[in-house]
Amino acid sequence: MPSPKLSLQTTTLWEYPSQHYGDGEQGSKDYRGATPSYIIWNLLQRYTKKNDLVVDPFCGSGTTLDVAADMKRKALGYDLQPHHPRVIRADARDLPLENNKADFVFMDPPYGDNLTYSGLPECIGELPATDPRYLEAFEHVFNEAARILRPGRYLAVYVSDVWKSAAFVPIGSIFSEMLAQRFLPVDHIVVARGNKDLEKGNYHKAAEEENFFLRGFNHLLIFKNPEADEVRRVKVEGKVRQRKESREMGDPKRTDESGRGRSSGGSGGGGGNRRGSKGPWKKGGR
Ligand SMILES: C[S@@+](CC[C@H](N)C(=O)[O-])C[C@H]1O[C@@H](n2cnc3c(N)ncnc32)[C@H](O)[C@@H]1O
Repeated sequence: MPSPKLSLQTTTLWEYPSQHYGDGEQGSKDYRGATPSYIIWNLLQRYTKKNDLVVDPFCGSGTTLDVAADMKRKALGYDLQPHHPRVIRADARDLPLENNKADFVFMDPPYGDNLTYSGLPECIGELPATDPRYLEAFEHVFNEAARILRPGRYLAVYVSDVWKSAAFVPIGSIFSEMLAQRFLPVDHIVVARGNKDLEKGNYHKAAEEENFFLRGFNHLLIFKNPEADEVRRVKVEGKVRQRKESREMGDPKRTDESGRGRSSGGSGGGGGNRRGSKGPWKKGGR
């Protein structure tokens, strides 16, 4: 049965009652964690044009590749565990792509260790969101995205917050902060989750009894890679934010007496032309 008609979402609350659009399938419905394809379709409608190169560093079952093909965009998809003939095996922190090649980057990465993917030691989905190595991995992922994305072009990150074992990790806002160190914020969309788990009575009972909330939405964070004349804005705003955080944390190591924040390492500089950061995952010592 064909899915409901697709239309361009025009508010910051997105909803569509199917994982796929049209008569067929984009990506695979059997791949756990596959991205709802209407999200990618909407992003490509707004931020790309015919023949643009779309890159997905966590491409899994290839949803991004299928949507891009439908819309006559070129696309490259990478994943540690390819589940589509055109997905290339690579680590999102070290992509085999030259600087400034992508016209758009989309990613739907693991949200901590909520799902099991390949089980490989390099899989970011092996790390709980509460593990500092999880966020550290994304310092490298976002640097890599800044490196491959052309200045003036856009990136979107689709992600969920995590509540697990009585710990809440607001991944959406943490990622927003990290991305704003490298890119210009464009918008923040709430995507209603069509999660079958939400229909299960026992989940609702647990949410009541243990006093937590089931995840009803995902964040879709949209940023722009700054043009040369916009880079200063990202740097200045990033510094102001770092300084404010240091003051609030009262951390003397992060802020000298004049209030100038020292490098906290890890934050990118906008426009990024660095080549694949050499991370600990390379030595197998996570
Ligand atoms: C939420 S799924 C993405 C699903 C995909 N968008 C789709 O529609 O099929 C997250 C993916 O991240 C991949 N992954 C985890 N760690 C990775 C890494 N370090 N580099 C590349 N891919 C990784 C997993 O194998 C998994 O396919």
